[in-house]
Amino acid sequence: MNNHYKTYVWSFLGRLSHWLLVISFFISFITSFHENLLKLHVTFGIIALGMFIKKIVWGLIGPKYARWSDYKFKLKDLNFYFVEKIRNRYRKIEPGHNPASSWFAFLVTWFGIFCCLIGLLLYGIQEGNGIFSFLNTTYYMYMENLFDIHEVLSYILLVMILTHISGVLIEQFYHKTSMVFAMITGYKKAKGEDIEPTFCMKFYGSLYIVFVLSLASYTYYIPNNFIVKSKFEKIDYKKLHSDFQFECSDCHNLIPPFLLPKESWKNLMANQDNHFEEDLELDSTMVKSIENFLIRNSSESSTRESSYKITKELSNSNAFIITKTDYWKKLHEKIPEEVFKSDTIETKSNCIACHKDFEKGILADINITFLSK
Ligand code: HEC
Ligand code: HEC
Repeated sequence: MNNHYKTYVWSFLGRLSHWLLVISFFISFITSFHENLLKLHVTFGIIALGMFIKKIVWGLIGPKYARWSDYKFKLKDLNFYFVEKIRNRYRKIEPGHNPASSWFAFLVTWFGIFCCLIGLLLYGIQEGNGIFSFLNTTYYMYMENLFDIHEVLSYILLVMILTHISGVLIEQFYHKTSMVFAMITGYKKAKGEDIEPTFCMKFYGSLYIVFVLSLASYTYYIPNNFIVKSKFEKIDYKKLHSDFQFECSDCHNLIPPFLLPKESWKNLMANQDNHFEEDLELDSTMVKSIENFLIRNSSESSTRESSYKITKELSNSNAFIITKTDYWKKLHEKIPEEVFKSDTIETKSNCIACHKDFEKGILADINITFLSK
């Protein structure tokens, strides 16, 4: 039995960053299913990235058991660890990382860093937000590939983390090694040398964690900061084409031209005398003028995520009902039908009811005023 041994192995800062990682991973994972929680997702993604980076550096300059040099990477040891684990319920445990947790920590750190960086890149390329938003113009067509990579990495991380948790619970309850408490109190039931973090480690380590948490709060609370800022500005359609603004915002909110491809706009304008059973009563010069404006600013000319995805979906069609596209339906599938029929919203086409500044061409996640469950 290991009961009579006790070694201080995990420093306070090490444990703190471990639990910050746990929290930030799960919150980013859950928020990833909601477009309107994207800012929260990015905020916790930043904390996770910060903690993964800390792990790398801590592994070079931190206390003994946190150092990469103390990790056990030999496959022979890994094999022995599992053989011993199966054979011997009450085996002797090592202070520091065992071979399985060494591999886990190493892989989760690098996959984690990779996942967070791809996330920031995706935030720039797909959403046009943040430090990589300048890449949107040139690389927007890769948004779906990047999304897939980010998603696959996050599921790999999830599987790794669930495996790690199972391993820890087996240690805790079957082998009775008190592994869970070690990450809370810092003490492991093992024979070894206690760690003694130096003043420098404590000072710079704390400073770093404060820095990461401040950066995260800044991301979340300061409007339009450089981490979340969108490259897309508000558009004044009245100034750009007053006739379009006037004629097309009478019965419903103005629909920005970048939400439909050329062929759809042509089709819509060709049928302006029977527009959802309404006659728009526009003369031919007005039709031509509005149509030209719509075509010039159609979805093909924009690198926004919505434009790219709608263009792709409608490439073989000239349909113009946005709310009937799979893209739109998928985004709004969590909203119950009754919501759209409610007195304040009335119809799905009433985009402005849930998207602030929609008539100015803004479709950013932070402008979604309706919170879906
Ligand atoms: C009842 C409220 C509501 C209405 C009406 C509505 N939306 Fe949305 N929309 C939402 C919500 C909520 C989300 C976020 C969905 C999620 O959880 O991912 C969203 C997401 C979107 C997105 C993705 C935003 C992003 O950040 O990428 C687009 C694009 C969009 N809506 C377009 C439209 C258009 C165009 C209309 C009108 C034809 C419309 N919506 C009408 C509530 C609404
Ligand atoms: C006389 C009233 C009226 C005017 C003016 C009008 N529309 Fe509409 N429009 C409608 C109605 C009604 C619908 C159907 C909305 C619904 O389903 O609730 C609609 C729907 C649309 C849709 C599809 C929205 C969706 O649900 O995806 C588009 C796009 C559109 N209009 C564009 C235009 C454009 C462009 C103009 C200006 C040339 C214009 N409309 C002017 C009445 C009008």
